[in-house]
Amino acid sequence: MKALVLFGSPRAVGNTAKLCGAFLKGLPKSCEVEVVRLFDLKPTPCNDCGYCKASDGCSKKDLDLFMRRYFEADLVVVATPIYLMSFPAPMKALFDRFQRFYCARFRRGIQTPVPKPKQAVLLLTAGDEAEPGQTIVAQQAGRAFSVMNTKIVGTVTAAGTDEHGVGETDLQRAYQLAKRIE
Ligand SMILES: Cc1cc2nc3c(=O)[nH]c(=O)nc-3n(C[C@H](O)[C@H](O)[C@H](O)COP(=O)(O)O)c2cc1C
Repeated sequence: MKALVLFGSPRAVGNTAKLCGAFLKGLPKSCEVEVVRLFDLKPTPCNDCGYCKASDGCSKKDLDLFMRRYFEADLVVVATPIYLMSFPAPMKALFDRFQRFYCARFRRGIQTPVPKPKQAVLLLTAGDEAEPGQTIVAQQAGRAFSVMNTKIVGTVTAAGTDEHGVGETDLQRAYQLAKRIE
């Protein structure tokens, strides 16, 4: 199994990294894990240039290597803090760039633009309460993944991190979620 971690926090050692670490520990030893830090990747935002309405691919080439990795993955791990009830900006920019697959599917009639099916999990951290950020983020990710042959199979939200960091119970929930991935 190949896991691709979409890591949304700018902090390499923070709440999201801790939660993500617990999840990764629970994956089978044979699982190949690749981590993509969105603040390093810096996806160029989609500007609705229209390229993908008529042609395969994207006018912007900065995500070509990333997309090859996405195509190969079996499991997509979205590990991110909640910012203003949504994703940090680079994660949102990445999801907007999936629009090329929406156009492939619904404008150009390609039945399965991303051939290999994938499971996804959401590992979220929130300084305050889980809601409404958790629901908003899940809806956005679900929409983005709907054209990516990617199905969300579980979510763990560590809330109240500004008060007490990530709790032991949250780490256990993340670990147990990984154990259920087949
Ligand atoms: C710009 C910004 C916006 C934030 N917005 C929210 C928010 O809407 N809801 C919330 O619960 N926490 C919010 N937080 C708090 C973070 O989600 C929380 O501190 C998180 O655990 C940080 O994760 P990290 O340590 O991995 O960076 C925000 C933090 C920042 C920096």
